[in-house]
Amino acid sequence: MAAPVRFLTGITTTGTPHLGNYVGAFRPAVEASRRPGTENFYFLADYHALIKCDDPARVQRSTLEIAACWLAVGLDPERVLFYRQSDIPEVPELTWLLTCVTGKGLLNRAHAYKAAVDRNTAAGLDADVDVTAGLFMYPVLMAADILMFKARRIPVGRDQVQHIEMARDIANSFNHLYGELLVPPEAQIDETVALLPGLDGRKMSKSYDNHIPLFAPREQLRKLIAGIVTDSRAPGEPKEVEGSALFQIYEAFASVQETQRLRAAYAGGISWSEAKQALFDRIDGEIAPMRERYEALIADPARIERILKAGAEKARAIATPFMAELRDAVGLRNLAAVAAPKAKAAKAATPAFKQYREADGRHYFKLVDAGGRLLAQSAGYASPQDAGRAVARLKREGFAAGEDQLQLAAGVTADQVAAALRQFAAD
Ligand code: TRP
Repeated sequence: MAAPVRFLTGITTTGTPHLGNYVGAFRPAVEASRRPGTENFYFLADYHALIKCDDPARVQRSTLEIAACWLAVGLDPERVLFYRQSDIPEVPELTWLLTCVTGKGLLNRAHAYKAAVDRNTAAGLDADVDVTAGLFMYPVLMAADILMFKARRIPVGRDQVQHIEMARDIANSFNHLYGELLVPPEAQIDETVALLPGLDGRKMSKSYDNHIPLFAPREQLRKLIAGIVTDSRAPGEPKEVEGSALFQIYEAFASVQETQRLRAAYAGGISWSEAKQALFDRIDGEIAPMRERYEALIADPARIERILKAGAEKARAIATPFMAELRDAVGLRNLAAVAAPKAKAAKAATPAFKQYREADGRHYFKLVDAGGRLLAQSAGYASPQDAGRAVARLKREGFAAGEDQLQLAAGVTADQVAAALRQFAAD
C-alpha cells in the first residue's frame, strides 16, 4: 500500500469560532480526516496568536474554545494528531534554523507585513511603526509548523497560499544547503467549500462584526438569525434567492433537496419570518448535538488539557528524532563525534551558475561546485541577457568558449572548471 498522504492545518487561537469558520474550516477538515489513505495533523497555533494578541487571558480562553470546537464538531483525537503548537518545543527550534536560510527580501514581500507597511506609509508614518518582528517572521514560524512534520498538503484559504509558497521556498533553500531533508508542501484549496455571508450580507467575519458564534446558545442563535438583512417584500410576494444572505447560509447547511424546496418557497412568497424559522431549524438541528458536547468540554478544561498533552506526545515522537537529524545536518553536533561533510557534498555533484548584479550596475555570473564552493567568476556584462547568453555558451561548448572572460577562484585550476562545465554538456 502507498504511504498515506500527510495533511496538516493550524488555526490561530484568537477569537471565538463562528459559523463561517465551521462551514469553511472545521466541517471540511473533520470530513477530510476520515478519508482513507491520509494522515491528518490539526493543531492550535497559539504561538501565532501572540503575534496578534497581547492579552494572556484571551489567548488562554481562545485556545480552550478552539480546542473544544475541534472536539465538539467530531475530530477524533485517536485517529488524527491533535495538538497545541506551544507543546512542541521543536517548532520554535526549527524556526531558528529556517530563519537562517530565509532571505529577508522574501519576508519583505509577505502580504500581511506589506499591508502594515503600506498602511503606515499612506498615513505618513515611518514604514515599520507598530510592526513587530513577530509579524515579520510569521511565515517562518508557519513554515516550521509544516516542515517539522513533512506534511505535503496544506488545506488553506486563498489568503494563506503565499505562506505555503514561502514554506516551499524555505524548504528548498534549506535542502540546497544541507541535503534533501525537508518536504516542500503544497497548498490545497477546496473550491467546493462554501463562503458564508454574514448578517449584513458581506463575508462572515469577526472584523465586520456580522458573525454568528458557532456555539451561541439556542436563543441567541434565534435572535441573530432574526437580524439577518432581507428586503422589504411582504409575505405572499415572490422573493429573490439571488443575493439573499439568508438563502446562501441555508444552502451551506442543507441538502440539495432541502435547498430546492426553499428556492420554491421563495418563489411562492414565503414570508421572511418563516424563512428565518426554516434557517434556524436547519442550523440548530445540525449544531445542537455539537453544542451540547461543546458545553460539556468547556466545563472540563482538564480533560481538554489531557487530550492535548496526549496529542503532543504523539507529535513529539515524530518531531524529536527529526529535529535531532536536522541539528546534525547543520552542524549542531556532539563535539566528540567524527565530523561528517555536508550531506550534499556526498550526493551526485551538480555545479551551478548564479547570476547577479553588482553595485557598478553590470551583470555578472559565477560558477559554483555542488558544495557551493566558488570556482570562477565572470567579467561584467551590460545586460542580464548578455550574461545569460555567455552562460548558455559555456554550458554548451565548455571552458574554451569563455576562457578569457572567466576569472578562476583562488586555488581552483582550469581543469577543475572545465570538468564542472563538462557536466552541463553531459546533461
Ligand atoms: N496562518 C494560519 C491562519 O491564520 C494558521 C496557521 C499557522 C497554519 N500555522 C499553520 C495553517 C500551518 C496551516 C499550516 O489561518
